[in-house]
Order: sequence, then structure tokens, then C-alpha cells
Amino acid sequence: MRVQVAIIGAGPAGLLLGQLLHRAGIDAVILEQRSAEYVLGRIRAGVLEEGTVELLARAGVGARLRAEALVHPGVGIAFGGARLSIDLHALTGKSMYVYGQTEITRDLMDARAAAGARTIYEAEGVSVHGFDGSRPAVRWVKDGKPRELECEFIAGCDGYHGACRASVPGTTIRTYEREYPFGWLGILSDTPPVDREIFYASHERGFALCSMRSTTRSRCYVQVPLTDRVEDWSDERFWEELRRRIDPDAAAKIVTGPSIEKSIAPLRSFVAEPMRFGRLFLAGDAAHIVPPTGAKGLNLAASDVHYLSEGLINWYRSGSASGTPSASRGG
Ligand code: APR
Repeated sequence: MRVQVAIIGAGPAGLLLGQLLHRAGIDAVILEQRSAEYVLGRIRAGVLEEGTVELLARAGVGARLRAEALVHPGVGIAFGGARLSIDLHALTGKSMYVYGQTEITRDLMDARAAAGARTIYEAEGVSVHGFDGSRPAVRWVKDGKPRELECEFIAGCDGYHGACRASVPGTTIRTYEREYPFGWLGILSDTPPVDREIFYASHERGFALCSMRSTTRSRCYVQVPLTDRVEDWSDERFWEELRRRIDPDAAAKIVTGPSIEKSIAPLRSFVAEPMRFGRLFLAGDAAHIVPPTGAKGLNLAASDVHYLSEGLINWYRSGSASGTPSASRGG
């Protein structure tokens, strides 16, 4: 099998890149180690910046988002028993959009299926080869049989634990990492959001965040020591702790209910540079991890994909003559 671009990973970065390349007439295959159901079932980010929304529209998957997303003109910060609202729209002309990553993934998967673009799920043992030359290849095992794909470029969209960054010679990459001495305990619940605006709380007991996925689904977090386990936190204890950390008006209004997902995320910052190794490019979590505030990981991944897709599209449009893909502008 031969293809122009092999994309490793069907997370938001890989699926969005696949869609942008497909619309530009570039042949790309996505290889994903998990099943489509598993990828869709992951509960992750849900706040989109304006640039991400524009990119999704350019990728042809903006219609449901525009119709269903909650538009937020700003955010709040609670501290000292009061709340400060910051009207980002008035200050910058831009808003934030609440639309779950699950929905973006579904829209991108549906668009890919409608276009007949190839995604190979449950590809085991994916390995990347020859990216320092002009003929890279990707190998994997599917249904017990070894497979190989020749390509012109490899996009490593395979997340922090993926195979692509791990394949780069250690002498060619620098990494910077910081692990924070606490984690975020997060719950998802089918209860109305604590407030209409997303707000962050600074409190001596620790940080808290009241966010949402829809008008009927809350996403809230409290900072906890890394030694805590999810089993230590009943839903009642979580709501009680959240009430203590936010402003009294909001605390009085909280509607509590059972969690439908509860987990503790350790917080880490990680950056790898460069993001290009010959014909292998890293994008999204494969190249950098940030603490989950404001869905920055998802929005950064979209930004990476913008530049990478522009670079590849320019390269193919110029008849592959300029030698190296490079993006022309930001977004
Ligand atoms: N082979 C094939 N696929 C792999 C491999 C591998 N060796 N390793 C990982 N993958 C797949 C994962 O199963 C996952 O589906 O790559 C995908 C990577 O997806 P994400 O981890 O979601 O990374 P990315 O697409 O960069 O996500 C961007 O969105 O919400 C966020 O937390 C997410 O910050 C991240 C952002």
C-alpha cells in the first residue's frame, strides 16, 4: 500500500489533519491502535477557542458545532469570597465555545466515513521507518498479520505515549518537563452547570473549576494531593469540597447529583522540540502536554494541525518542488 501522508493516531489531531488533507485532495491514511468505539468513549476536553472553531469549519465539520455549542463571552475568577467576571468578547472580539471533544470526534469520524477516507483501527505495534530519507514507511500488525505502508510524510498525532516521538534519535530531540505536586479530581454529572459562566476558583484549600458540557451536564474539578485515590472521594465529599472553594452565591445555587465519570488527573507540562524530524512531524500531545485548563491541549493540537496541514498543502500544490513543507501563516 502507498499513500501520500500516513497519520498515526485518531485523536482530535489526527482526525482533523486527515479531514483538512482530504479536502485538499491529499491522500492520507490514519492508523489507530484502539477501536473507534474506544476513541469515541474517551471523556476529554470541551472548550474551544475561536481559532479552533474556524479550523473545524474549514474542515467542513462546523455545522453541528455552530448549532449546538454554548457560546461563552467570558470566564469568571472566584477569590476571597467574591467573583470577578472577565468579558473576553468585549476585550478581544472573540468568544469561547463549549462543545465536547466526543462530539468533535464524532463529527470528524462521520465526515471521514462519508468521504470514504481510510482509517485503520486496532493497528497493533505501529512503527515508523525511514523518515530521515525520502521514502518513509509505517509497519503494524492487523488481525495477526504484518502490514506495511509506504508514504511521503508521517504525521505523529499519537499522543504523549505514542510511537512516533519515541522513534526519534535521542540526540535530535530536546524535552522539557515539569510535574506538579498535585492533581485534579474531576467529575462529570448530569446536573445543570453551577453557573452560566465557566469560572475558576483560587482558595487556600486549593484550586477549583466549574465548567460544563451542556446546559444539563456539569464538568467540575477540585485540586487534590497526588496521594489521594478516586475511592477516597464520594460524590457527596466532592460537592462539599467544591462548595467550600467557590463564592458563596454560587455555592448556594449548586445542584448536586451522582457522577457519571470521576477521575484524578496528575498535572504535567511537557514540551519537545523540534517538532519535525526529516519527513516525520509531531502534532498535538505527541509534542506537548499542558495542564487541562481551558482545554489548552485540544486547542494547541488544532493549532499544530493548522500549521502542519498548511505546510503539506503548500508543498503538494507547489509540485513538491520547494523541498520542505512550511506553513505560511498562523490561525
Ligand atoms: N499507534 C497508533 N495509535 C496510537 C499509538 C500507536 N503507537 N499511540 C497512541 N495512539 C493513539 C491513541 O490511541 C489516541 O487515539 O493516538 C491517539 C492520540 O490522541 P490524543 O491522546 O487525544 O492526542 P491528540 O490528538 O494530540 O489530542 C489533542 O485533545 O483533549 C485533548 O487530551 C487531549 O490534549 C489532547 C488534545
